[in-house]
Amino acid sequence: MGKVAFATAVTCAAAACAVTALVVRQRMQSSVRWASVDAVMRELEERCATPVGKLRQLADAMAVEMHAGLAAEGGSKLKMLISYVDNLPTGDEEGLFYALDLGGTNFRVLRVQLGGKEGRIVRQEFEEVSIPPHLMIGGSDELFDFIASALARFIASEGEDFHLPVGRQRELGFTFSFPVRQISIGSGTLVKWTKGFNIDGTVGEDVVGELSRAMERQGLNMRVSALVNDTIGTLAGGRYHDKDVVAAVILGTGTNAAYVERVKAIPKWQGLLPKSGETVINMEWGNFRSSHLPITEYDRALDDVSLNPGEQIYEKLVSGMYLGEIFRRVLLRLAQEAALFGETVPAKLEVPFSLRTPIMSAMHHDKSPDLTVVDTKLNEVLGILNTSLQTRKMVVQICDIIAKRSARLAAAGIVGIVKKVSRARDNARELPRMVIAMDGGLYEHYKIFSESVQSTIKEILGEEASASVVIKMANDGSGIGAALLAASHSHYLELEQSL
Ligand code: BGC
Repeated sequence: MGKVAFATAVTCAAAACAVTALVVRQRMQSSVRWASVDAVMRELEERCATPVGKLRQLADAMAVEMHAGLAAEGGSKLKMLISYVDNLPTGDEEGLFYALDLGGTNFRVLRVQLGGKEGRIVRQEFEEVSIPPHLMIGGSDELFDFIASALARFIASEGEDFHLPVGRQRELGFTFSFPVRQISIGSGTLVKWTKGFNIDGTVGEDVVGELSRAMERQGLNMRVSALVNDTIGTLAGGRYHDKDVVAAVILGTGTNAAYVERVKAIPKWQGLLPKSGETVINMEWGNFRSSHLPITEYDRALDDVSLNPGEQIYEKLVSGMYLGEIFRRVLLRLAQEAALFGETVPAKLEVPFSLRTPIMSAMHHDKSPDLTVVDTKLNEVLGILNTSLQTRKMVVQICDIIAKRSARLAAAGIVGIVKKVSRARDNARELPRMVIAMDGGLYEHYKIFSESVQSTIKEILGEEASASVVIKMANDGSGIGAALLAASHSHYLELEQSL
């Protein structure tokens, strides 16, 4: 074929493809039942609505539940677990400490050389390892052996820049981001698994014991000096850099908060704690429940088939593990009832958790005039081709409704803590500066989400009061925080003090 003839053939073929795509798109668009789409969307908007009045009620409910959970065991859906952290880092910590941070699909191991007041964090190194999905729902030895062997490899790779004093055992801060009933700073029993983990026979078991046995099996000579939730680690890490940190919030795969409480405000542990001073409470706010929460049929259906039905309801409305799945469920209904993606429902759309929150975030942030990112993601992730711009706009609108509901509910939770903490501060007329240490991929990477959290706090509290509430991103706060807590609760400090 001559050059001209070839070029003409190519051009014609391309034109034919474009025409076919247009025809398919037009057919798809014309088959969409827009009246049904509108009805589903209207209902979604109504059910997800979070007017500021409702958010204020939720913030009050959060503060009330905090009181109830502190008053008596089982007094609230909020577990309000004691952390036994009574020495938050001061900056004086010195030496080489380790952390293991487990709480999602990845875990991190970390070492940090602390140089006291002057040197601060002299050097740190970390490694991230992803957990094979079958280990998240298997046996405990398999999971803990996998973790301990990664830790052993990490220790084996230690360079000469890190110094452990001769004769000392390595000390580890273990961030375990699940609800744990602590017995002391260095031990506790698992209350339940969350975020898709379900390990046989471990509920009620000694978490540090499980890890220590696995470390022994790997020939690792290491002592767990602090067992902490990620919220506690984040709070400790935040405090190291800023004295005004009063609480920590995690908005990631899961969600939770911790805050500093006066011991005398905790009736249920009177006797177990010193008579005065402060301690840190792991709220386990993911289990918060209130009649004011805007719950839809999609949330109920998701909860019914979850590993923990009826539990962690706030977490299921707010956290990164679930937003993509709620989004998928709305799209599926629109595909089934309104033929949003043509007469056949895309098979991948029927697969639970096929739409992860980072994909939803990418679509939500699409600023291109034709929404090409939405187009590409629908194609790549769900195998959906040839959507109209109108359909793609609809998809973005759904992301907006789901993400903003989540962000606004998280903001209400934060205001609940602010209310509880500021009331405790002698009814000061002016709110003191209160820093919330924040961690979690949802907040860090989903910009529309984090902006909405911030603007909603302003909306609830008003311009003036909200100026005292500062949210500070504490990247990897929970890992460093756990190492810092291992340092401030070091076994050797206790020994030195007792000499
Ligand atoms: C867990 C918490 C944890 C939070 C954030 C929740 O599912 O119950 O203990 O702090 O996730 O990781």
